[in-house]
Amino acid sequence: MPEPKPRRWRGRLVALGIALAVLVPLGYLWATSLVPGSYNAAEMGYADYGGGSTDGHAHHHGAMSVKDLTGPTTGTPDVAVTLIARKQKFQLASGETVDGYTLNGTSPGPLIRARVGELVQVTLVNESVPDGATLHWHGIDVPNAEDGVAGVTQDAVPVGGKFVYRFKAEQAGTYWYHSHQVSSDEVKGGLFGAIVIAPSAPGEVVAAIHTYNGKRTINGRTGSGRVDLPAGTTARVRVINTDNAILRVGLLGTPYKVVAVDGRDVHGPSSVTAAYPLAAGARVDLEAVVPAGGMRLVAGAAATSLGIGPGDAPTGELPGETVDLLTYGTPAPLGFDPARADRNFEYRIGRRPGFLDGKPGLWWTINGHKFPDVPMFMVAEGDIVRMTISNTSGQAHPMHLHGHHAVVLSRNGVRATGSPWWIDTLEVGNKETYEIAFVADNPGLWMDHCHNLPHAAQGLMTHLMYEGITTPYRIGGDASNTPE
Ligand code: C2O
Ligand code: CU
Repeated sequence: MPEPKPRRWRGRLVALGIALAVLVPLGYLWATSLVPGSYNAAEMGYADYGGGSTDGHAHHHGAMSVKDLTGPTTGTPDVAVTLIARKQKFQLASGETVDGYTLNGTSPGPLIRARVGELVQVTLVNESVPDGATLHWHGIDVPNAEDGVAGVTQDAVPVGGKFVYRFKAEQAGTYWYHSHQVSSDEVKGGLFGAIVIAPSAPGEVVAAIHTYNGKRTINGRTGSGRVDLPAGTTARVRVINTDNAILRVGLLGTPYKVVAVDGRDVHGPSSVTAAYPLAAGARVDLEAVVPAGGMRLVAGAAATSLGIGPGDAPTGELPGETVDLLTYGTPAPLGFDPARADRNFEYRIGRRPGFLDGKPGLWWTINGHKFPDVPMFMVAEGDIVRMTISNTSGQAHPMHLHGHHAVVLSRNGVRATGSPWWIDTLEVGNKETYEIAFVADNPGLWMDHCHNLPHAAQGLMTHLMYEGITTPYRIGGDASNTPE
């Protein structure tokens, strides 16, 4: 006997009802996750005033375009460099072939050097980078129009195009430059180089660490390199982590001092033998007197290192202990009072399942919101800003704010008691909370993102915006601007 029809139909209706109950909200989540093909970064997300003035866009001084916030437009540059970007096969200094990106035929690109007070002019020519390219001056607090972020401060430079960056070198230190167009691909592939603001000194060693095709290098060389320096020389080793993950670095063979972090001098550094945890995008300057037997910079593990000094340097692994900047060095005035903050922001990093631009996955969240519906941190020029960065996302994130240096006030509620710990890139581990503070002294629209660049491409990215700032550029759009 066949089953009576009404029951079967009822069953089907119930099943259909359940399916709709699941699919309709899913469809809604999917549809609301779509990122428009083209949008204005200044209009992204929702304004977060951090408890401060809400004048925002309608400030009485009127609007100011990012485009007008340039460096000096007149004057003969003291340092003038042209960098030609190409997509090509090239050879590492140690001989391996890489299919990636070069600047003037090499990766890393040429070392740029300037002294404090000099006018730097860099002309980027894109000969053959198909997605377009830009140059961002990581850690140099340049005027906003020189910041090199595609879709925010300029259009990506297309094949056959060029762009001129001009800025005054103001703070001595170790920095680097890299493309900020499809940066998760172009930086990995080699579109970066080092820039040092300081006169060249006999004991200086620049060590840019980068992994090409899974092979870790120092200055584009796998294995163990060498720099000849006479014993007794005071060496300053400028180490740059251009990769996506934190790396332990340090000197073997002699105690050393951490004399600068992210282009800012450390006050009262003491001698250490521990390893230094160098966040992705961050820099550290290590100082030591070259011993008779030489010394060795180790990048991560002994397999990648740089012997420095006369003859053979000691080999081996880095010690297990780690330098902690929360207590390293001695206090000094900050130049501003974080207790008198005009803004108090939270940058809460989480992760949850859902859709991002229609794609299902586990996505990063900022204050519970998924990209592009993330907070826009609003400030006015002159504000003292405090920001609490916390992370319960299950992974560590090297957080990088453009255009500013911030000082670390505390970690997990423990106050910083060492040297002022100035950063532009700060490793925030899972379940960690950092409180930082800075002065809003560089008007513009500034990225504030994770420097594990694939994470930024997955939406761990927002902006700090000064009131009244507008940008004529668009993410997406005719120039296919894709900053991450
Ligand atoms: Cu080094 Cu927004 O980047
Ligand atoms: Cu990250």
